[in-house]
Amino acid sequence: AFLGIDLGTSSVKIIIMDKDGKVLGSVSKDYPIYYPRQNWAEQNPEDWWQSTSEGIKEILSKMGVKGEDVKGIGLSGQMHGSVVMDKDNNVLMPAILWCDQRTAGECDYITRKLNQANLTKYTGNKALPGFTAPKILWIKNHNPGIFERITHVLLPKDYIRFKLTGEFATEVSDASGTLMFDVEKRTWSKEMLEFLELPEEALPRCFESYEITGKVNSKAAEETGLKPGTPVVGGGGDQAAGAVGTGAVKSGIMSVALGTSGVVFAGQDAYSVDEHNRLHSFCHANGKWHVMGVMLSAASCLKWWVEDVNKGLGEKGFDILLDEADKVDSGSHGLIFLPYLMGERTPYSDPDARGCFIGLNITHDRGAMTRSIIEGVSFGLRDSLEIIKDLKIPIDEVRVTGGGAKSKLWRQVLADIFGAKVNMINATEGPAYGAAILAAVGIGEYGSVEDACDELIKVTDSMEPLAENSRKYEEMYQIYKGLYLTLKDTFN
Ligand code: XUL
Repeated sequence: AFLGIDLGTSSVKIIIMDKDGKVLGSVSKDYPIYYPRQNWAEQNPEDWWQSTSEGIKEILSKMGVKGEDVKGIGLSGQMHGSVVMDKDNNVLMPAILWCDQRTAGECDYITRKLNQANLTKYTGNKALPGFTAPKILWIKNHNPGIFERITHVLLPKDYIRFKLTGEFATEVSDASGTLMFDVEKRTWSKEMLEFLELPEEALPRCFESYEITGKVNSKAAEETGLKPGTPVVGGGGDQAAGAVGTGAVKSGIMSVALGTSGVVFAGQDAYSVDEHNRLHSFCHANGKWHVMGVMLSAASCLKWWVEDVNKGLGEKGFDILLDEADKVDSGSHGLIFLPYLMGERTPYSDPDARGCFIGLNITHDRGAMTRSIIEGVSFGLRDSLEIIKDLKIPIDEVRVTGGGAKSKLWRQVLADIFGAKVNMINATEGPAYGAAILAAVGIGEYGSVEDACDELIKVTDSMEPLAENSRKYEEMYQIYKGLYLTLKDTFN
């Protein structure tokens, strides 16, 4: 069997997969997230390990799987977070997470000093507050005493790797989100390290996602019930591992995740960046590359609407409101929702962007408002799709995952707004499943990531776009696109 571990933002999820790709069971363990100030978000790496080691022990005993039956382990997790350690391998401060927004000043500084053309040359990306390099610079500016003692910088899932194997290692997909990595050449960027005054030895050794990076050591074996010597493969950042888990590893297959955040993800056979770096250009877990657009609020807009604004509907809240929305015509009688409830990353990189309903009139009811939320989030995803199309990346099918994908209505709206076929697949375990697949590839169970995905991941449901709706949405999308730009100065 193989273990797939996904170190998420609110919990770690661990699955056991057999060698035929069947998920035998899963456990999930929570840990706290701390918000010491507005816009700050931190976690304690020791909590991650506590939950992960307990989770491994629990799943092995729950499923009756012996440590020696686990042939390989794959790691996935929240990207971009900073774990900094001293020469004795002590964690120096809480990890600053991907959703922490404190580093806007550092991002401006990096962009001003290096200029975007150089940043693109060195890293393939622009400086965004979520990324790791601005966090390191923030520590240097605000906590120079800690900065001086930094001997190791790790990403969240790679801290788990360190605890499991004692090795300081990472892999290309997660390294891509640090802004210290040369995505095109798949190696650390000397220029960025020099700029940050960080020695290369401080960064982990970087592997491909399907390569074995180390073996479980005896201390970790004692704490988890695993067998010493069990191989741990690179794995992937949650987006790349998630794409492996949906089979988005071949050109033509695009994945859309309708989770808390919304992600449009497309693999590329060769490296490229879009003209204004609106998409992230990262290494993929199959040895190639990918681009992605990240919306900060996707299914969370619907969750906010159902659970906060319309609270009191109880467990059936989602069903009640989605039924009402289903009865409303496409286009919600002209009502448009802007989904920027927590600012936006792609395409605007604007932490101050805000949500709105535009065009309310006396005939709009709750159903129209619910429907316009689903449509507005889908228009936001379409913004990323447009940039992907500009890059001439072929799209034959869209595979949709995440909580929002459970709604048939939402899948139809997405098909209509994208003008593309929207598919559901048999695999629903996301990044943890992708990580387990990478482990199976790493120990040679499959010849390549593509082969494994071909064999294991199948389409179970398909939604075609309806021409008439697509036409209507096309007109509305043109209006939607202009609204952020018109309203931007009123947001703050
Ligand atoms: C990707 C991103 C999120 C985090 C948390 O760029 O910020 O997907 O990895 O899940």
